[in-house]
Amino acid sequence: CTPEVRELLLSRITDVHDYPKPGVVFKDITPLLADPLAFGALTDTLVELAGRYGATKIVGLEARGFILAAPVAVKAGIGFIPVRKAGKLPGATLAQAYELEYGTAEIEVHAEDLSAGDRVMVIDDVLATGGTAEASLELIRRAGAEVAGVAVLMELSFLPGREKLAGALAGSPLDAL
Ligand code: PRP
Repeated sequence: CTPEVRELLLSRITDVHDYPKPGVVFKDITPLLADPLAFGALTDTLVELAGRYGATKIVGLEARGFILAAPVAVKAGIGFIPVRKAGKLPGATLAQAYELEYGTAEIEVHAEDLSAGDRVMVIDDVLATGGTAEASLELIRRAGAEVAGVAVLMELSFLPGREKLAGALAGSPLDAL
């Protein structure tokens, strides 16, 4: 995105210290969502990225990824597919487990939502360890669909998310923070 849009987006993200636990700095995007100019500019940037990478479907990662991904899908005129935390989707699903700092987590997608011939862009707010995004790419590939790329609002540069995605990171409007 342009330097002006980057500045606007950055100015609408608040650092919250010691949340959710002591020592952590949480990046709060709610001021960005509350500003239609900033949210619109971010949406436009991601729509452009989805077009450039030839996406035919958008996957959003629960929960903050949903908020960013849904308007992109609507504006791009392509389908929105939710990837949810385990146990939330009613139909037949594909599930993928991944490592957390302590323990494991699991995400799911409706099996019928993705198939061969789809080219899928994954959208989320933050790339931290990359575990969630990497697991979503596994789901896409296991469904027989193609990965267009991953787009996130921001990367946490002190964590190895980008390396974990092995070239699949299409873009992050704010780059590394
Ligand atoms: C956060 C964030 C990403 C993920 C990034 O989601 O929104 O989805 O963690 O972390 P990773 O790169 O280390 O996998 P969280 O699970 O906190 O869920 P939420 O969006 O529902 O708050």
